[in-house]
Amino acid sequence: MASPSGTPWPRSAVRDDDAGALVVAGVPAPRVAAEHGTPAYVLDEGEFRARARTYVDAFGRAFEAVGTGVDVYYAGKALLTKAVARWAREEGLRVDTASGGELAIALAAGVPGAELGLHGNNKSDAELAAALDAGVGRIIVDSFGEIDRLADLAAARGVVAPVMVRVTTGVHAGGHEYISTAHEDQKFGLSVNAGPEGGDSPAVLALLRILERPSLRLLGIHSHIGSQILDAAGFAEAARTVLRLRAHLGIRTGVLVDEVDLGGGYGIAYLPQDTELDPSQVAREIAEAVAEACAELGTPLPRISIEPGRAIVGPAGITVYTVGTVKPVLVTADDGSTFTRLYVSVDGGMSDNIRTALYGAAYHAEIANRRSDAPLALVRVVGKHCESGDIVVDEVLLPGDVRPGDLLAVAATGAYGRSMASNYNLLTRPPVIGVHEGATRVLVRRETVEDLLALDVG
Ligand code: LLP
Repeated sequence: MASPSGTPWPRSAVRDDDAGALVVAGVPAPRVAAEHGTPAYVLDEGEFRARARTYVDAFGRAFEAVGTGVDVYYAGKALLTKAVARWAREEGLRVDTASGGELAIALAAGVPGAELGLHGNNKSDAELAAALDAGVGRIIVDSFGEIDRLADLAAARGVVAPVMVRVTTGVHAGGHEYISTAHEDQKFGLSVNAGPEGGDSPAVLALLRILERPSLRLLGIHSHIGSQILDAAGFAEAARTVLRLRAHLGIRTGVLVDEVDLGGGYGIAYLPQDTELDPSQVAREIAEAVAEACAELGTPLPRISIEPGRAIVGPAGITVYTVGTVKPVLVTADDGSTFTRLYVSVDGGMSDNIRTALYGAAYHAEIANRRSDAPLALVRVVGKHCESGDIVVDEVLLPGDVRPGDLLAVAATGAYGRSMASNYNLLTRPPVIGVHEGATRVLVRRETVEDLLALDVG
């Protein structure tokens, strides 16, 4: 398994010379299984760090070339553990959080408040207060009610809250409707478009309202257009729209905000035939669009920030399962022909990876404990939940001798796997095992039945 960049495996992935087991960061999958059990999320620290550096370098270079700077925020919603937050910081990233829980983990990891952002369309007073108390560097407000509540909370504390406004630009991009966030009929952001009666757009009104409140400091404007985006056009379009809004506010009020955040959404490879978005190329295209738009508008360049999550952590993670049962099922196709689909059941499922069921996401899997030259069979990898939609990998060709006891590795599960995991059927959530230079380290321990019993107070 050579892993040129663009395949879904971490670049450290190889097959060992003995049994042909999958080895990631020098750690064979059978060793992970023996030491930590299955299912387990396995996270390649080197891959995470390399991808983090790539984004910092690519965007840094591209925006330096047009004359401004960039801050890269790692979007913690993709996967946030204390170790992950520290790796991000050590590689020069800041951390974007989306709840009080994510904020608490980032702070516990030692990330200074000033290097954190807080998102959310429905932040509670407690979350806003926690952000103020931690000195969070930017609170991205998402509604008029939140602007007022935050201003009051800040005033009561005698502090000035640094805020950005989340706007919707009408641009939407990405894999699935549920993960496209900038079109209008959804809950996020304030539209840059005026309502049917004309007048100021909600985005303009929000910016004006912030400028009226002395306990708020307007840092800039934020746009996030979607997720798993595989071309730069949508980012460039959204950037142009945000920059027009910035220029409009500048003319209107004399306040030209310093910062523009273009969000996350950079797409990755999930399947061997996929090509991920090239960070250098997308960075150049966005930087050129920003520079051109500012030149046309006659405004100086803002400082830019971006918030990649999936592109940093997705390909750094795999999930290792143990096969429990193998069942050939005769399937009748639409044209009346029949074929056999091999249902391979693993010891996890939709509780550790909901993306297949929720988004129809496609994944790649391989036998991880041995090589096999058996003829390939059409396999559906399923979990152990009481639900027929409990599918981990809808379709993959695996050696037909796949059998109970084999280990199965699913690629590119680092983003939105553990972070969207549940306890459905009261399964206990798998651990996150860091692998680096031949060593394993538990980053998040496996949940136990004792944890479940402790939560249920009867
Ligand atoms: N910034 C904001 C404001 C966001 O809402 C998101 C993702 C990101 C950054 C990071 O996006 P990324 O670079 O990871 O694509 N659960 C879905 C993805 C939901 C993304 C929500 N927001 C999935 O599993 O595909």
